[in-house]
Amino acid sequence: MMAEKKKEEKPFSVEDLPGVGEATAEKLREAGYDELMRLAVASPKDLSEVSGVAEGAAAKIIAAARKFADVGNFETGEEILQRRKEIKKLPTGSKNLDELLGGGLETQAITEFYGEFGSGKTQIMHQLAVNATMPEDAGGFNTDVLIIDTENTFRPERIVSMALAKGLDPDETLKRIHVARAYNSHHQILLAEKASEMTKDFHIRLLIVDSLTSHFRSEYMGRGSLAERQQLLNRHMHDLLKFGTINNAVVAVTNQVSARPDIFFGDPTAPIGGHIVGHTATFRVYLRKSKGGKRIARLVDSPYLPEGEAVIQLSEDGITDGVQA
Ligand code: GTP
Ligand code: MG
Repeated sequence: MMAEKKKEEKPFSVEDLPGVGEATAEKLREAGYDELMRLAVASPKDLSEVSGVAEGAAAKIIAAARKFADVGNFETGEEILQRRKEIKKLPTGSKNLDELLGGGLETQAITEFYGEFGSGKTQIMHQLAVNATMPEDAGGFNTDVLIIDTENTFRPERIVSMALAKGLDPDETLKRIHVARAYNSHHQILLAEKASEMTKDFHIRLLIVDSLTSHFRSEYMGRGSLAERQQLLNRHMHDLLKFGTINNAVVAVTNQVSARPDIFFGDPTAPIGGHIVGHTATFRVYLRKSKGGKRIARLVDSPYLPEGEAVIQLSEDGITDGVQA
């Protein structure tokens, strides 16, 4: 199988680079620099800051990594256009929200839902999971789904209710939704890498991370660890985006907002992770509570869609437009 094939190649170890001893290798690995590419694209200053290696030595390490790294290839515009033609859209259950998103959540992109507790992020993730399993003629992808659950909020009972509301067989739906608990941020990063392995056995067009930021937020408190947190989060986001691009999959992530001014630069409606998450997420949707089970979704910072708002309804049956006035 593929897993065995991988073992045949000698895996890269940071010690393989000239001038890197055991202690330096350990420091680099701890800072998340355990791959040639990550080292190759680092700046000497950043590498020095997070690993404690002197800047001159860091520059030499980077130069060596560049020699060995597979930096990838150029693609023709034609190839990129072809890939973009394959983009599909996953409906949310709410026509209002789909319209706001230009038809639904796009594959080959990351869509981030952020908002305070109870704003409906986890409910939307459950609904997307159900929708992705639906037949294509019903707007679904007819594929399996991966969920990385960091807060232990996945509820199969919610999937059952939502599947029944869509006229689906709840047991068949549950079988297609693969959930992994992530116990800390490193575990979460590893699970995102493992997601690619899952695609060998299952056809997957939706990857969910709920929540993207909670572990990072609790593990990296205070200003001192902010740079390291942002670097890990950045790496994680790029892994997720790569998964979406390679597999023509939707990547949906959730993020909380908080009033902690030291992390959120004073803005209580700012999502965690600041510009790192913002620049990598292609679509960002801000959710806020309204009366009853209503929620207001606002599209923020989209590359080509107009900003706007949509009202959605949370209910036992899942995400809908509710009764329109
Ligand atoms: P955090 O993860 O705490 O940040 O919140 P969240 O944004 O993920 O909130 P979540 O999606 O868990 O939303 C919770 C809200 O969904 C509740 O306040 C309920 O209004 C609604 N909800 C959840 N389950 C049900 C249900 O079975 N029936 C109905 N009617 N509403 C539900
Ligand atoms: Mg939640």
